[in-house]
Amino acid sequence: MKIFIDSADLKEIEKYLSWGICDGVTTNPTICLKCGVTGGLEGIKKRTIEIAKLIRPCPVSAEVTTDNIEEVISQAKEYSQWAENVVVKVTVIDRQGDSLLPAIYKLLSEGVRVNVTTIMTFNQAILASKAIEAGLKNNPKAKIPNFISIFAGRISEEQGVEQAAKVIKNTRQWLDFHQYHGIEIIVGSIRSPENVELWSRSGAHILTIPPQVIAKSSLAARTKETVSQFINDAQKSLTQMEKM
Ligand code: E4P
Repeated sequence: MKIFIDSADLKEIEKYLSWGICDGVTTNPTICLKCGVTGGLEGIKKRTIEIAKLIRPCPVSAEVTTDNIEEVISQAKEYSQWAENVVVKVTVIDRQGDSLLPAIYKLLSEGVRVNVTTIMTFNQAILASKAIEAGLKNNPKAKIPNFISIFAGRISEEQGVEQAAKVIKNTRQWLDFHQYHGIEIIVGSIRSPENVELWSRSGAHILTIPPQVIAKSSLAARTKETVSQFINDAQKSLTQMEKM
């Protein structure tokens, strides 16, 4: 299973690269703002290119800022020119509830790599997967993997963590059964180490995790206490040994 860093903070991304646990990055405009990006779309472009350089060949997802289908297509094409490892995040439907799968299908057919985002149900996941797969078939040069992002945290807020796990598990089984090899499931909107534990065992190809949740996941109070005891004991033992 891969781990993506759900952040646009260069220092945090560098940190987890140095740990050997960063297989990619996901961002959106809200995350960019929180991470100090300024200057509107130009600022997002600049930061996305910086992240892309830092993590290449791993992918960085950047999200379109419109749900108008024509604008989605043109913005996605523009983003895809920023760097070869940029993946364009497009929401699965627009604000009216109309599908954006026609844009997804067209983008894939034209070789733009996508991450279909804000997926909350199994049905949305399989429909998005079919659109991606159909686009891939039209373009033998299209890059893989493409991604579908299941927003497990948001599913949980209304239906509980187990329902989120069920959507992930059923989607993974369906993708494997039908041999959709060009698509990977990203599990997003992760809020806690408990989410990491449950959803990494539910069939996700990738968990995209905010830096603060990764930091918490590497900690355990009893481990910290044990390390302190070991270091103190080691120093005492060394002192005694030197006297012998
Ligand atoms: C994933 O790609 C998203 O960036 C992220 O996980 C969004 O989650 P949230 O808006 O529910 O926090």
